[in-house]
Amino acid sequence: MTGDLFADELPLAGERMSLGPQSVVLRGFALTFIDELWPRLQQVLTQAPFRHMVTPGGQTMSVPLTNCGPLGWTSSRAGYRYRSDDPDSGLPWPAMPAVFMRLATEAAAAAGFAGFAPDACLINRYRPGSRLTLHQDRNERDFSQPIVSVSLGVSAVFLWGGLQRAGGTQRMALFHGDVAVWGGVDRMRYHGIAPIREGSHALTGSERINFTFRKAG
Ligand code: SIN
Ligand code: FE2
Repeated sequence: MTGDLFADELPLAGERMSLGPQSVVLRGFALTFIDELWPRLQQVLTQAPFRHMVTPGGQTMSVPLTNCGPLGWTSSRAGYRYRSDDPDSGLPWPAMPAVFMRLATEAAAAAGFAGFAPDACLINRYRPGSRLTLHQDRNERDFSQPIVSVSLGVSAVFLWGGLQRAGGTQRMALFHGDVAVWGGVDRMRYHGIAPIREGSHALTGSERINFTFRKAG
C-alpha cells in the first residue's frame, strides 16, 4: 500500500460503517474472497475487456467498464440499458463466476438483505484522475433489491448524497476489500467517486477496480 493516500488510517476488517438506515460499508468483507476472485476476474476480462462507452449526450466516459452475468449495463447514444449481449463482441456477457455470486449474496445478507440474487455485475476500472459524477442507480427494474459494491486496489473517496442531487454529500474512504451495500430507503440515494489519487496497491498497481452487483431484470 506504499504511497496510498490512506495508508496511515487503514480500518479494521470487520468494522461496519453506517451510511444510513439501510446502507453500510462492511470493512474488509471481500478480503477472504480475493485469492479466488482475482483469477476469475482476469478470465472475465479476457472474454469481455474494459471499454470506454459513450454517454447519451455523446461524451466518452472516463471510467472504462465491462460486465459479467446474464445482464450487463451499457451506455450509448441511445441511452442507458441492460442487455444480455456484449455490444462489442455480439456474444453473451461472461457468466458470473460462482465466487462473485457468493461474495455478493453474503455481503447483502450481512447488511440485512437476505436472498439477494444479482443477475448483473458491472465492473469499473479507475486510474488516477478518474471520477464518477453523482448519480442514482435507476436502470434496474426492481428497486426493492439492494446494490452491492466491492472495492479493490487503491483507495477512493465515496461521495454519498441524499435522495435529491442537491443537498451535499458525505465522504467515506473505501479501501481494498471493502463492500458497500445500499438498499431499502437508501436505494435511490445519489452517490459517486471523487477523483482517484495517485497510489499503488500490490494487487492492482495504480488502479482501483469496483464491482457493483445488481438485480437488473
Ligand atoms: C457505481 O456507482 O456504479 C460505482 C461506485 C464505485 O465505484 O464505488
Ligand atoms: Fe452507481
